Amino acid sequence: MITLHEHAGLAALNTFGLPGTARWLAEVDGAVDIAQLARDPRFAGLPRIMLGGGSNLVLSGGEVEALVIRLRAGAWHEALRDGNRVRIVADAGLAWHALVTECVAAGLGGIENLALIPGTVGAAPVQNIGAYGVELESVLHAVDTVDLHSGETRTLSRTECRFGYRDSVFKHEASNLAITTVHLDLATDAPLALDYRDLREELAARGNPPATRQLVYDMVCAIRRRKLPDPAQIGNAGSFFKNPLVSAQQFAQLRERFPDVVGYPQAGGDVKVAAGWLIDRAGWKGHRAGAVGVHDSQALVLVNRGGARGEEVLGLAARIVDDVRARYGITLEMEPRVL
Ligand code: EPU
Repeated sequence: MITLHEHAGLAALNTFGLPGTARWLAEVDGAVDIAQLARDPRFAGLPRIMLGGGSNLVLSGGEVEALVIRLRAGAWHEALRDGNRVRIVADAGLAWHALVTECVAAGLGGIENLALIPGTVGAAPVQNIGAYGVELESVLHAVDTVDLHSGETRTLSRTECRFGYRDSVFKHEASNLAITTVHLDLATDAPLALDYRDLREELAARGNPPATRQLVYDMVCAIRRRKLPDPAQIGNAGSFFKNPLVSAQQFAQLRERFPDVVGYPQAGGDVKVAAGWLIDRAGWKGHRAGAVGVHDSQALVLVNRGGARGEEVLGLAARIVDDVRARYGITLEMEPRVL
């Protein structure tokens, strides 16, 4: 069923809690409804935008001149089982964390490190969500999509999704496709990923008990609850900037000036620098500027301290980008989508 709202308020639909409206907001059940909207002459010529959990979004203010589409919550099921390997199929509207929780409870491994990431299953492939040493692409088999303009359906393989760090084809050429279902390859014996420093430290702090999937899930939830603000209490969109990639030479020069700078060498020889460290050492952590600010315990997260407007968030972000560029010669890129 399609439910349509005109000039619909979006403040409750973005975790930053920023004000804004959509020319049209449609709530739908799946691909059939989206195809029907795609062909509806009332929306001809209007841009179409898929909205997931609104957890990676900055509304710049005013009315979004578009047809904004939201999938209602869905379900997941086991599609194939071959020994220890289990393929699951999940509806895009389902909350990502609910899927992780239920898979861990069912003994299915591969996504426990991605616990407590806000947003929906359908949004997860768009930015190739990643945390604590695991990225979605490591388990993704395929996604089913529907074209927001033609209504045609198409399935993309993992290769066709062209995943990168917080990146996929859905941010580029395929931005006209709405993801409606996600197919994941999980396993009852998937190895536990415990290499990330925070996880090793958490395990040690708990007295190094034998690691189980449930324990990894619990530790990831505990670390996230400690470090990242809960959007229900204080508006935010998670990491506001991506961790920038620099050449090995540039990183060596940076380390000469800042011996404790944090960086992670990548396969191709480049180094991914911790943007949180750069912003923190530049003195921004806990910064307040009216209704917006930088979180007190994670400098990579910008927060709405109550009543902020999108332009204030973007203004603070621009000042941080300028300052980081002036200090370190590195240009930070925003992670959330701006509407
Ligand atoms: N750091 C600081 N000060 C800070 C924040 C971080 O010095 O205020 C240092 C930390 O000490 C650590 C390093 O920076 O050595 C990295 O920090 P952390 O492990 O918290 O991870 P991150 O790089 O800040 C990334 C992801 C997160 C993800 C975590 C855990 C990006 C942009 N962010 O954050 O993803 O949860 O790693 O894997 O890649 C998100 O995308 O919204 C998100 C929360």
